[in-house]
Amino acid sequence: MKIGFISATIVDLVSYVDRAPNYDEATTAKDFHIACGGKGANQAVAAKRLGADVMLVSAAGEDFFGVAALENFQRNGIDTRRIFKIPHVSTGVVMIIVEPSGQYRSIFYHGANDFLSPEKILQAADDLKSCGLLVMQLELPLETVYVAADFARKNNIPVLLNPSPMNENLELEKVCPCEFFVLNEIELKTLTGLPVGSLENIRAAAGKLLTRGLKNIILTLGSRGSIWFAEGVEEFVPTLEVDAVDSTGAGDAFTGCFIQSFAQGKKIPEAMRLASKYAALSVTRKGTQDSYLTAGEFKNFCDLKVS
Ligand code: RIB
Repeated sequence: MKIGFISATIVDLVSYVDRAPNYDEATTAKDFHIACGGKGANQAVAAKRLGADVMLVSAAGEDFFGVAALENFQRNGIDTRRIFKIPHVSTGVVMIIVEPSGQYRSIFYHGANDFLSPEKILQAADDLKSCGLLVMQLELPLETVYVAADFARKNNIPVLLNPSPMNENLELEKVCPCEFFVLNEIELKTLTGLPVGSLENIRAAAGKLLTRGLKNIILTLGSRGSIWFAEGVEEFVPTLEVDAVDSTGAGDAFTGCFIQSFAQGKKIPEAMRLASKYAALSVTRKGTQDSYLTAGEFKNFCDLKVS
């Protein structure tokens, strides 16, 4: 099954610090690197490294970062024909500060991604029609996400939406029915306006979303695992305990692996189990895409260490 990603292209400028600076303070980073990111782009790279058939619709500026992003996609075997080049605007960038605990904070400039308009999605329609699943996040204009969801609905293509970063203006009915909704606790809280934290609260919030036309809610809880909610279904999937070095992009590792496992025919809980392991391994290495294993590396790990 071909998987279509409609995603932002972003270049990550990552500083590793002992602690993030306070206001009016400059601190020195211990390490720094530039890497290619964007949530959907990360997910596409993870899925591709695990063997998925991937196509990507995205946008990049005609600048230094845009050239680097395109080269990175090509190196990862991702078809770049549907990456629109937007003149006179910067490629999307994000500045990320990672603390020793692996936690991070970030600042975005969306740049060219804001020019991935609904019209551009329709220009890619022929390629998108050949996909068995469309995957989206919220790093693009909401109108673009809505048009893509509508396109998927009209062409009977299931959608996986990862509503990240959460946009409070998201109108759920415009992305429903949605086969998979992959989100974290903070996103669940923002979207429903309900408290989270305890299982009871989470259950109530997820239940509210199910009534709105989402079929399968996959809630990621970081080092605490993940939960699948569907009508009459609540299944908890644990994760590996690891020493975190850098959690940036761990959610994307989860989603990319989940998608590839599901596309290969795995049932939802098994796809979540694999995705949890894959994401846990990614936080033991620095970087986002740099921390994603190939299919061979992941299989070796699963054969060796995990029952
Ligand atoms: O999820 C992590 C990603 O979010 C980073 O790679 C950054 O590009 C941002 O989009």
